[in-house]
Formats: sequence, C-alpha cells, structure tokens
Amino acid sequence: MTAPRLDVDGLLSDPSIRIVVCCGAGGVGKTTTAAALGLRAAEVHGRRTVVLTIDPARRLAQSMGLTELDNTPRHVKGIDTERTGGELHAMMLDMKRTFDEVVEQHTTPKRAAEIFANPFYQAMSSTFAGTQEYMAMEKLGQLRAGDQWDLIVVDTPPSRSALDFLDAPARLSRFLDGRMLRMLLAPARTGGRSVFSLVTASFGLFSKTVQKVLGAQLLTDLSGFVAALDSMFGGFRQRADQTYRILQDPQTAFLLVAAPERDAIREAAYFAERLVAERMPLAGLVLNRMHPIEPAGLSAADSEAAADRLDETGDQQVTADVLRIHAALLRQAEREAGVATGFTGAFPSVPTTSVAAQPADVHDVDGLRTIGALLA
Ligand SMILES: Nc1ncnc2c1ncn2[C@@H]1O[C@H](COP(=O)(O)OP(=O)(O)OP(=O)(O)O)[C@@H](O)[C@H]1O
Ligand SMILES: [Mg+2]
Repeated sequence: MTAPRLDVDGLLSDPSIRIVVCCGAGGVGKTTTAAALGLRAAEVHGRRTVVLTIDPARRLAQSMGLTELDNTPRHVKGIDTERTGGELHAMMLDMKRTFDEVVEQHTTPKRAAEIFANPFYQAMSSTFAGTQEYMAMEKLGQLRAGDQWDLIVVDTPPSRSALDFLDAPARLSRFLDGRMLRMLLAPARTGGRSVFSLVTASFGLFSKTVQKVLGAQLLTDLSGFVAALDSMFGGFRQRADQTYRILQDPQTAFLLVAAPERDAIREAAYFAERLVAERMPLAGLVLNRMHPIEPAGLSAADSEAAADRLDETGDQQVTADVLRIHAALLRQAEREAGVATGFTGAFPSVPTTSVAAQPADVHDVDGLRTIGALLA
C-alpha cells in the first residue's frame, strides 16, 4: 500500500488556498519547509507570498534578509521572480511585540502603559508557556485580515508537542479569564480593597496556598495585571475563536512535517487525528530528511555478501567498504520506510511527499530552492 503523492505545486498554485500551516514535532524541519514553500510559491507560481517564521536559525534568517526582529514582513530580495511576477516577503515573529500590539489595540494608551509596566505582564509576554503559540495565531489573524497576500505560509513554534499550537490559545484564554484570576480581580472592582482581605475572607485556606505558591508581590502584580486586562478578556477570546475558524476554513491547508523517526511520526499521527476532530483541513504529510531507496540497485543482502567475499580474498578493501556503506544506507532507507508506515497505515488517504536529507544544513536561498523542488 502506498500513500497518494502530495501535489505540492497544485497546492501552491491553487488561488483558493490562502494559508499553509507547517506543523510537527520539534526539530523536524517546519521552518525550513515553510521557507522553501514560500520561496517556491513566489518564484514558480507567481504568488504574492508572506512567510511567517518563528525562531529561524540565524543564518537562514540572514539569507532571507531578516536581520531585525521588527515584527513586520520584509521583502525578500535577490530571488528569481521576474518570470512569474511573484513576491516573497518574510517575517520573524516577535512574540513580545505582538502581545504589546494586541494590548494597544484593545485599550487606552494610559491602560496600555500600566499593563506594560507590570512585572507580571513583562514575564508573561515573553515567557508564559503558550504565549508564542497564541501570538503566532494572533499574527496569522492580522496577516489574513489585511487581505494583502495571495498566500500566507505559517511556521509553528518549536514546541515539544505539535499539538501545543492548537491547544495553547485556548489554554491562554482560559487562564486569562479563569476563576482564580477573576477572584484576584475582585479588589479592583470593590474600589481597591486589599486583594488579600477579600480573597482571604471568602477563600481562606485556598488563598494562603496561592500566596505561598505565588508569593505576595507576584500576587499583587498579577491582580493589577488582570485588572488592566479585564477590558480585553472578550477581545482575546474572540480573536482566538476567529483564528480558529480561519484554520477550519477550506482556504487553509495544514502540512504535517515529520522526520522518519518513531516519535515524530507518532506526533504527526496524533496531530492528524486532532485535525480531523477539529475539522481542520489536512493537506498532507512531508517526510523530511529521508534517505531514498535507489530503485533497481544492488540489494543490501547482495552487497553485504559481496563485501564478505572480498574480505576473504583480502584485496579490494575499499570496494568492500563501499559495498558495506551502500548496504547500511539501504537498510536505513528500509527502516525509515517502515517507520513512515506508522502514519500512512493509519491515514492511508493522506497524500505524502518526502524530502531527501541534504548533506548539510539548509541555510540559504539555493538550499531552500532545492528543498522546494524536492517537496514538489
Ligand atoms: N532535508 C534536510 N536536509 C538537511 N538538513 C535539514 C533538512 N531539513 C531541515 N534541515 C536542517 O535541520 C535543522 C532543523 O530544521 P528546522 O529549523 O527547519 O526545524 P524546525 O522543525 O523548524 O525546528 P524547531 O522545532 O526547533 O523550530 C536546520 O538546521 C535545518 O537546516
Ligand atoms: Mg522552527
């Protein structure tokens, strides 16, 4: 049983496709794939494309002209779009800046200044788990709302689990309007009575625990922060919901990226199940860093046997070594193909493409062009 082949060029040239989301486990090649797809969409298919990258390797960022983290798309120059008239723009997500922008859009300048000054906000906007995922979605929403792009290619954060990308926004908005925070908010509503007196009165033991865990100062900061954010609760949730709906729309195509390793494949399978459950459009699987099997070559067993015979005769040691390397590569390719069936067996109708492992890291436009061609 072989999975249908993913038609990457068909996807990139389809005018009804406006968003491609590259997701997968950590380190599998999401950023590389997103950048390569963006480049190909612009160069080959003439689309006005923006790539939203998250934490790209420094050399890759530099090669796309992304030298500053300024949270706006930059025109990527020096690529070959003359023939098709496409354009490539690229940006790196600045999580803190995006969070600041959201705050500014939802409140008065005075309130915004208070929020920015709050230590809890400062910590949360740069380190809270899930903030990066939330802000990636937020930025995607902004880019889509502008309607300035034919195609938006989205990279996803280097999370431990691919599912974090879908879970984090809901987790964050639950946190922001969660029960505990509502309680902490109470003093602001009752005209500045101490957070402790109020919380202690109604939730004695509970608040002691909270104080012990969080520390008194943090609790004060937190309460001020939440008071300031109060006017924005609806805004946060509403925007997360909106972006979620965009992700369910047929204009969006999810591409799962996986390396031919058991964990990455398992992660991809969980994610695929989740996409189906959320009715989000899964376009295909990218098996990255594969070692392709050469068809019609010498089999692994034959080359090992030949190497053994050469060993016995004692000469031609180099040839014997080459045969063994050949055999090892073939065995690796077989192993990888076996691992990949962990996904394709469970999702036989999901189209798949594979990309060969390159001899070196992909950090320039030429490298991205090669990956794009392999994808297609
Ligand atoms: N097909 C390939 N051949 C060789 N190197 C590759 C290939 N694909 C990706 N790489 C390299 O592997 C490294 C990780 O790739 P990349 O940054 O795209 O992964 P990622 O999924 O975005 O990782 P993270 O989860 O940390 O964001 C990079 O150095 C990249 O150049
Ligand atoms: Mg990445």
